[in-house]
Amino acid sequence: MKRILFVCHTGELGGAEFVLIDIAAHCCSRCHVALLADGPLRAALEAKGVGVSIIAASEHMLGVRRDAGWSRSIRAVPATLSATCRIARLARAYDVLFATSQKAAIVAMLAGLLSRRPVIWQLHDIMSAAHFGDLLRRISVALANVTVRTVLANSQVSRDAFCATGGGRDRVQVVPIGIDPAPFLAVTDAHASTLRAALFPPNVTLIGLFGRLTPWKGQHVLIDALADLPGVHAVIVGDALFGEDAYRASLHARAAAAGVAARVTWLGFRDDVPALMRAMDIIVHASTAPEPFGRVIVEAMLARRPAIATRGGAAAEILGEAYPYLVPPADPAALAAAARRIMGLPAPDLSHLVAANFARASSEFSLDAMLEAVDRLI
Ligand code: UDP
Ligand code: GLC
Repeated sequence: MKRILFVCHTGELGGAEFVLIDIAAHCCSRCHVALLADGPLRAALEAKGVGVSIIAASEHMLGVRRDAGWSRSIRAVPATLSATCRIARLARAYDVLFATSQKAAIVAMLAGLLSRRPVIWQLHDIMSAAHFGDLLRRISVALANVTVRTVLANSQVSRDAFCATGGGRDRVQVVPIGIDPAPFLAVTDAHASTLRAALFPPNVTLIGLFGRLTPWKGQHVLIDALADLPGVHAVIVGDALFGEDAYRASLHARAAAAGVAARVTWLGFRDDVPALMRAMDIIVHASTAPEPFGRVIVEAMLARRPAIATRGGAAAEILGEAYPYLVPPADPAALAAAARRIMGLPAPDLSHLVAANFARASSEFSLDAMLEAVDRLI
């Protein structure tokens, strides 16, 4: 049995980190996680019996953003090398390095060279200009081409963007993200009704958007759509995880300016997503940039709620090309129209839609299948 050292650049709880929790919990007796920043992820991993070390990298490295130019990137080099040396030392006790993000991959790829350990990169991102700066994209893909055994792409769109940036197609394998259906199956209708009565106004249609607050997740598009959706109440679940406080403030101001503030409930980050999803009438995914995968779409399917999602990323892979509620990104009118169509569905059609989505999510995005694929590869 191979021993695995996972390398993750953040301690926050985003989708890629929930995937890490599932994979590390599955092999907890023979793995360890190195986090380049502390945060709630540490406790979540430890609660699953996974050992964690914080190899804190400085802000010079972690703070590099999409628009970083040469000088900002060069300033990140000493911090990157220092984290690399510490990871390489840790790696000597393991057989494989497994990186869970682009920043972690750079450190893991260099540490893999130093410690002569094979590296797997689970690619959770679309390597395009919408998500990454040109320089970082080129560096990580060039390094991957010479150091990484296998890139595990979370979707076909992520694989294609990696290859379009120069990544070797023979190195990439698509392993879709799998989600455990158990917490969704455990939610009873009674529980969902109690939650709904406790948190939201009565006699409204609830449309929920689940995801971290960041401009490309498109919370503003749902706020704008409310003007066209009388009787609808929006539920925004999630918080700014990576410093997007100005966006959070702008959302509140936007709702107030549009006169819809009383029709929005802001729940912040929640750890009861399955029950909350079940309490919604509709769940929207509103990302304005192509979504690399989109766990929340699969979760909406498992929660047996009708989903609306934006085209452009992996949504069509998840819901199917012909899914009738795929809408153009950044288009509040199209979002509102799709919501009105769902609200007008006769009950049997709605039941059929959510049953078909549930069946598809359980068979195509099974956690067991993802874990088996990762086991096979390791
Ligand atoms: N999530 C959560 N609490 C929240 C908001 C989101 O636990 O308040 C979870 C959500 O259920 C999903 C993940 O965060 O599993 C987000 O993953 P996704 O792939 O949709 O987006 P990402 O943040 O990775 O881009
Ligand atoms: C990333 C992506 C998201 C994906 C998740 C899990 O955080 O932004 O689309 O679902 O990783 O692969």
